[in-house]
Amino acid sequence: MSTLDHEQVVIRTGPRSGLPVIVAVHSTALGQAVGGCRLWHYADWRDGLTDALRLSAGMTAKCAMAGLANGGGKTVVAVPAGITLDPGLRRDVLYDVAEAIESTGGRYATGPDVGTTPADMAVIGERTAGVFCKPPHLGGSGDSSPHTATGTLAALRAVCRRIHGTSDLAGRRLAVVGLGRVGERLARLLAAEGAELLVSDIDPGKHALAAELGATWSDPEQAVTAAVDILIPAALGGVLTEQVVPELRCRAVAGPANNQLATPAVADLLHRRDIIWVPDYVVGAGGVIYALTTELHRADDALARVEAIEGTVNDLLHTAERLEVTPAQAALELTRLRLSTARHS
Ligand code: PHE
Repeated sequence: MSTLDHEQVVIRTGPRSGLPVIVAVHSTALGQAVGGCRLWHYADWRDGLTDALRLSAGMTAKCAMAGLANGGGKTVVAVPAGITLDPGLRRDVLYDVAEAIESTGGRYATGPDVGTTPADMAVIGERTAGVFCKPPHLGGSGDSSPHTATGTLAALRAVCRRIHGTSDLAGRRLAVVGLGRVGERLARLLAAEGAELLVSDIDPGKHALAAELGATWSDPEQAVTAAVDILIPAALGGVLTEQVVPELRCRAVAGPANNQLATPAVADLLHRRDIIWVPDYVVGAGGVIYALTTELHRADDALARVEAIEGTVNDLLHTAERLEVTPAQAALELTRLRLSTARHS
C-alpha cells in the first residue's frame, strides 16, 4: 500500500453543479499551498483525483525550486465525457470550487490552469479570497500564461547554453508540442528569436499559427520524436513514456507542461540516452512566480524573478553534472532540502 503524502484532500460532489470537485493540498511546509484549477474532461473522476494528487505535489516542488514561500496544491474539476459546460453550469461549478477552497481554511489558494481563465478566477473570487490571477481591474495580476512562456524562454536559453555553449536560440531547431495559451505565446517568442520551429497541436485549427510563424506543422505524435535540438512539451502531462524514450531524436527536453514524466523512472532512461531533461516544475514556474510576486509581495521585480529561471536552470545543470546525477535528482534533492529546512526552522 502506498502512503498518502498529502496534507489534505477534499473530494466532493459540487452541491450546485453535481460535478466532482477535488482540492488536493500537498504541502504547506513553506507557506500557503497554491496551484491552479484544472477544469478538464476525465473518463472517471478517479483519474481526476490521480491528476490532482500528482499535480499538487508538482506545485510543492515548483514553489520550492522557485524560492517562493508557498507550498503546493491543485484543484481538479473532473468533467465527465459528454458534458459541456454552459455559462450557468460553469458558474455553479466555480462557486463549488470556491466553497471547497474555503473549506481548507486558508491553507490553499487557486489560480488558472488548463481549462480556466482569469475571468473564471473572478467568479471564484466572488466567494473566496483564496484566488490569484483575477483580471487586473478586479485587483488581480491577470493572465499568468505570458509569464509562464517568458520563464520557459529563460529556461531554454540555459539549456541551449549547456548544449551549444551559447544561449542564442537563433537557428536552433525546436519543437513546441501544444499551442494552448502558454504554447502559442512561447512559439511566438521563439519565432522572434529566430529559432527554426516545428509546432503541433491536437487542434488542427492551430495550423494557421504555424503558417503565420513560418514554422513546420506536424501532428503531435510525430512532433515528439522529431529530429530537433530541444523538445518542448507544452500541453498536457504524461508525454514522456518508457516507450517513447528510445524513439526520441532530441538532445534535450524542456517545456512548461506539468507532469511530463509518465513515471519517475523515465528521467533515468532519458539520462542514459544522454538526453537532458529539465524538470517541468522548474521550467514552467514563470506564471506562479509572477502572480505571487506581484499579488503577495507587491514587488516590482516580478519579471526579473521570472527571468531568473535561466540562472536556476544553469545552476541545476551544473550541479547535476558535478554530482553525476540527473537534473531531476538534483532538483528533487534541492526541493527536499528546502522543505526540511522550513520544517525545522
Ligand atoms: N497553472 C499554474 C501552474 O501550473 C498555476 C498558478 C498560476 C497558480 C498562477 C497560481 C497562480 O503553475
